[in-house]
Amino acid sequence: MEHLHLSQGSYWILKRVIKLRIKPRICLECPECGSLIEEAPLAVCNECWGPLQVKQDYEAVKDSLKKREIKNREQSLWRYLELLPIKESRFIVNLGDGWTPLTRCQRLEKELGVRELYIKNDALNPTGSFKDRPASVGVSKALEFGFNVVGCASTGNLAAATAAHAAKAGVKSFVLIPGNIEPNKVVQSAAYGAKILQVEGTYDAANRLGILASEIFNWALLNINLRPFYVEGSKTLAYEICEQLDWNTPDRVIIPMGSGALLNSFYRGLADLEKIDFIDNSKDVKITGAQPKGCSPIVDAFHTNNRISPVKEPKTICKSLAIGEPASGKQAIKVIRETGGYADAPSDEEIIEAEKILASREGIFAEPAGAITLATLIRLIDNGVVEEDEKIVLLVTGSGFKSLEAAQKTVGKPVKIPANIDALREAVENG
Ligand SMILES: Cc1ncc(COP(=O)(O)O)c(C=O)c1O
Ligand SMILES: [Zn+2]
Repeated sequence: MEHLHLSQGSYWILKRVIKLRIKPRICLECPECGSLIEEAPLAVCNECWGPLQVKQDYEAVKDSLKKREIKNREQSLWRYLELLPIKESRFIVNLGDGWTPLTRCQRLEKELGVRELYIKNDALNPTGSFKDRPASVGVSKALEFGFNVVGCASTGNLAAATAAHAAKAGVKSFVLIPGNIEPNKVVQSAAYGAKILQVEGTYDAANRLGILASEIFNWALLNINLRPFYVEGSKTLAYEICEQLDWNTPDRVIIPMGSGALLNSFYRGLADLEKIDFIDNSKDVKITGAQPKGCSPIVDAFHTNNRISPVKEPKTICKSLAIGEPASGKQAIKVIRETGGYADAPSDEEIIEAEKILASREGIFAEPAGAITLATLIRLIDNGVVEEDEKIVLLVTGSGFKSLEAAQKTVGKPVKIPANIDALREAVENG
């Protein structure tokens, strides 16, 4: 292996390094210092504290995986098995995750004046958000590592996704959530049987406690000690969009950002496709990130000095995106810059309006964290960032059923009528 760092000389590292003499299909790599180590439930590099990433043997995948073969496979994210970090398929936990529709939005195209607009509707995943992708891969990997307790720190959607996959796998789950998330997300996670630990304070407080919990109790916490594997699941969004566009790329993708992990995974997914010769222009897709104005540490850093200042008290209707200390923010900014993308932060009012537009024009009911991508597109058109002839994909990452209180703010009340024809006629005539 190219880069072996033994300077700290710990026996533990030495053991791992020796094992890597046989080139594995999957290992972990530190993008900061280049260290390569055997796969393990580990998120940071022992040498430099960089964020570890899964490294695959793409040459082998290139030889074995063909587009025509994928075409006939099952309609879930597991159609891309060779690109996912699971070695034995018997560990796969699949609720029918992924392979969600990519819908052309002709009504919005006309209204907004863009050439080609698509929505990748990930609200249609089994638990109602894109988090089923990383949860399916993360829980499968936890089983492969031999864990019998899984969990996560979550702003709500990952909690439900983790709990559902744990239920399917028959293992126990603990989820750490902040105090103020939407009641529907809490009920949903509880229904799947998760033990819910509602931590006083913000998501960041829950996350910090999660780091300790993974150490103390030997749990597989998907976005903590299993983070390098968990984030791989979201790469399938990029695989699917390209496949659904007949292995072409869009010009721009707009992606909601909380921790920034989804945006990074999307980009790494495009890079994978280029490595195996499925596409040849991964860097031409302008990756564009969206955060709500009331919690926009990544967007603010993008527009100033690249340095992320934590937001202590997020204030936004997008509860899913209320992450003040984004773990993958630095990499997200790098990706946005490298691809010539952009970052923007609409207000809660703009997001609620976009949620209404999405539902009333395209029949897609999104939670605020999903509708934020349309709110961002509208702003970027108004500001001249987006050009008319672009082919654009918006990721809609969560369902409106998750946060009904947001939708209730904008919809009209039902017209209550007595059960007779005269009352019906009167109500209809009154519009
Ligand atoms: C609906 C929704 N969209 C987007 C995101 C952002 O994901 P990330 O934290 O990977 O940036 C989240 C995170 O919880 C989410 O729930
Ligand atoms: Zn390192």
